[in-house]
Amino acid sequence: MNGTAIITGGSRGLGKELVDLFLKDNWKVSTFSRSWPQDIEFMEPSFLGLKADIRFEADIERVISETKRLLGNPRVLVLNAGWVSRATKIVDENINNLREDVEVNLISNTFMAQEFMRKCNPEAVVHITSDVAESPYPGWGFYGASKRAMDYIMETLKLENHEVKFLSIDPGDMNTTMHMTADPEADPAGLADPAVAALKVFNRIREEVRR
Ligand SMILES: NC(=O)c1ccc[n+]([C@@H]2O[C@H](COP(=O)([O-])OP(=O)(O)OC[C@H]3O[C@@H](n4cnc5c(N)ncnc54)[C@H](OP(=O)(O)O)[C@@H]3O)[C@@H](O)[C@H]2O)c1
Repeated sequence: MNGTAIITGGSRGLGKELVDLFLKDNWKVSTFSRSWPQDIEFMEPSFLGLKADIRFEADIERVISETKRLLGNPRVLVLNAGWVSRATKIVDENINNLREDVEVNLISNTFMAQEFMRKCNPEAVVHITSDVAESPYPGWGFYGASKRAMDYIMETLKLENHEVKFLSIDPGDMNTTMHMTADPEADPAGLADPAVAALKVFNRIREEVRR
């Protein structure tokens, strides 16, 4: 076994594909999402799925403790779960959407990273970021601001913890629920299959994490 990884939001999209790739590479994988069909799904010896909401600190604490109990101490964390609203010009957008972007993409991810750093055997933390965190796009301001702020947290963590790898990886535009929520008129033919994007993300992680 390569060790244990936690991948947030593994029920669909990029997260689901990453879970599959890690399992095929002989990792033990723990994942969770709000809609996970079972409260706890343990497939010995290597897979744990949990119903949990990253916005709730008690859920994050449970994910960490159950992962350690059933799969061993994780050494890799992939912050994949994310939230977006329909792409809207800032002047027209409901301010509560900024609250939700910040809650999920910044605060919850930061607490998840803190708990991983405090309680696990941290070797690498990977943040799935976005090109809109790099430079602004009309309509994507709230989401982009939350992603960019999380990248800033990652850069700071990197300066504070030299023994741990901190990677922000942009998977590119993908044909997923999230993209369709933000831009329902997008032509799916112009969006990458999440399985293809996941392989690129996985290979990048594999370059950085020791076997
Ligand atoms: N799609 C794109 O074009 C694109 C481009 C650049 C970056 N990204 C980034 O890639 C990552 C994955 O996106 P995706 O497109 O694969 O999205 P997706 O298909 O919508 O999947 C998101 C996953 O996160 C889970 N999730 C959402 N909110 C959660 C919460 N509060 N607690 C726990 N789990 C939660 C979802 O499950 P539940 O709903 O059951 O909770 C689902 O498993 C995100 O960080 C996104 O920002 C996406």
